[in-house]
Amino acid sequence: MRMRPALAPVVALVASLLALGGPAAAQPSEEVPFITSPDNVTLEMLRIADVKAGDHVIDLGSGDGRIVITAARRHGATGLGVEIVPDLVARSRKAAQDAGVADKVRFEERDLFATDLSKATVVTMYLLPEVNLQLRPKLLQLAPGARIVSHDWDLGDWAPDRTVVLDVPDKQVGREKKSKVHLWTVPARVEGLWCGSGLLREFSLRLTQQYQKAHGELARRDRVRAIEGTIEGHVLRTQSTRVGALVLEQAGDALKVVDGEGQLALARGTAFRKAAGASCGG
Ligand SMILES: C[S@@+](CC[C@H](N)C(=O)[O-])C[C@H]1O[C@@H](n2cnc3c(N)ncnc32)[C@H](O)[C@@H]1O
Repeated sequence: MRMRPALAPVVALVASLLALGGPAAAQPSEEVPFITSPDNVTLEMLRIADVKAGDHVIDLGSGDGRIVITAARRHGATGLGVEIVPDLVARSRKAAQDAGVADKVRFEERDLFATDLSKATVVTMYLLPEVNLQLRPKLLQLAPGARIVSHDWDLGDWAPDRTVVLDVPDKQVGREKKSKVHLWTVPARVEGLWCGSGLLREFSLRLTQQYQKAHGELARRDRVRAIEGTIEGHVLRTQSTRVGALVLEQAGDALKVVDGEGQLALARGTAFRKAAGASCGG
């Protein structure tokens, strides 16, 4: 694999740290070196993502397999670790057997960029900023509600929903003896023109979306109100205006009003559907 120029100094720094006797014996890949997430960080990554039985966790660049194995052992999840260094894949398989979770997890020697993420309900990463950014379009295609957790590095202008900072006294890289754990929940795609039905039949909702933020207009005939909202998985919560606020849930092709306050509380149970054309018509 070719080294990306921007990563070269980071890789050289970490490679020399490893040569000085860091925790990793395997060769680092050219792009992202092998450095383990410490136990407290691993546990927080799984906690913040609320990993539980029924989840399928994919760790991109799985190192010695600790995240996927812990997800299976402590939380009953299934998992897949993809790792480019063969020794680490072998080590992970052995560790899964020793932990009694070999039937719940798989480790594949594979380039993380060539990994099918469609079955993931949780994706975990301890990579590098540029690599995270390259993965971002693929992560945005995950099913709404899927969680993404990254150790230390963010996803550029896709702001995390939550960030936790942990003390890591024996941290191998950087000057700060701290690690960040960032969480994102993949938002439903709500952009476009939605037309009310039921009690809201005279309303239209025009939304623009950037990641988990939505803004637009709620209109009834010539009365237009600006709205802003935040999407968490399938749920869009609008901020309060003079007419109240809506909580909408995407279900199939509808945005259903599952809660509301103020005058809009009356709209509970009704729904918006995507406009067939450029307007909601009659
Ligand atoms: C910083 S380590 C993180 C290991 C583990 N996820 C953890 O948090 O403990 C990054 C891992 O990604 C692997 N890696 C680097 N580039 C990769 C690629 N293109 N495809 C798959 N794995 C890769 C490295 O070999 C290394 O083991």
